[in-house]
Amino acid sequence: MNLTDRVVVITGGAGGIGTALGRRFAAEGAAAVVLADLAADAARAAAEAIGPVASGAGLDVTDEAAVRALVEETERRHGRIDLFCANAGVATGGGIDAPDADWDRAWRVNVLGHLHSARAVLPGMLSRGQGHLLLTCSAAGVLTAVGDAPYTATKHAAVGFAEWLAITYRDAGIRVSALCPQGVDTPMLADGLAEGHLGARVIAASGTILTPDQVADAVVAGLAEERFLILPHPEVADYARRRAEDPDGWQAGLRKLVRKLRASFPQS
Ligand SMILES: NC(=O)c1ccc[n+]([C@@H]2O[C@H](COP(=O)([O-])OP(=O)(O)OC[C@H]3O[C@@H](n4cnc5c(N)ncnc54)[C@H](O)[C@@H]3O)[C@@H](O)[C@H]2O)c1
Repeated sequence: MNLTDRVVVITGGAGGIGTALGRRFAAEGAAAVVLADLAADAARAAAEAIGPVASGAGLDVTDEAAVRALVEETERRHGRIDLFCANAGVATGGGIDAPDADWDRAWRVNVLGHLHSARAVLPGMLSRGQGHLLLTCSAAGVLTAVGDAPYTATKHAAVGFAEWLAITYRDAGIRVSALCPQGVDTPMLADGLAEGHLGARVIAASGTILTPDQVADAVVAGLAEERFLILPHPEVADYARRRAEDPDGWQAGLRKLVRKLRASFPQS
């Protein structure tokens, strides 16, 4: 897919990776870019900064009726949705003791948010025999987010769901991509680093921290090649291969890194 004249919706579009995608798609000539986010005012401000091609809207992706309404409204205004980026996501920073409310929120945003998006947007795409779904998952969905059990479990579920969609709908003309970045310089990671979270420090120690614009570059290239797995950090492919070939050796290496980081920051 190239982005010229495309109608695009991006959830979690108020900042970070979502806004960078919107900015980049607009620069590539998209016909309309809808930034939808729980933070409605921030989504509108981000859209205004992009320009007239963009618009902002309030949306809670855990509310299926609201996702459906946004899709219907976009199709009514712009005639279709060519690319739907299900990008909203939440981290918790918790382990097995994280409250059930955190596990529930991670499940509802990081997994059911993708399901609601697919249910709402696929009928229109299938009727036209074309369309592209981009699910922002995470490297945590093919590896492990040390320090965040709900994030790890739900991002693995998101990658599994994306793969299921890709296999099921490819022959009907639908393309599906799973975006799996590692560290990206957005509030999600920056807050964790500022608070000294072990998980954030493992990410920082495991590879380059990209800017959201660099992630957008990787997405545009991945969409152009209609790739399923979009890895802005190429090293993640190598980590995933090593993990698949030797799970015990991979885990031993990660535990060694965690011990080293804990020794230098005993408070974490
Ligand atoms: N920053 C990273 O290092 C990193 C790495 C891998 C994957 N990701 C993923 O990238 C995506 C974007 O995150 P980001 O890094 O830009 O962080 P971010 O926190 O800036 O963006 C997440 C956005 O999702 C929105 N959101 C949260 N719950 C929502 C809901 N219920 N409905 C609608 N919007 C909701 C937030 O308001 C926020 O604007 C997420 O799915 C995240 O898990 C981030």
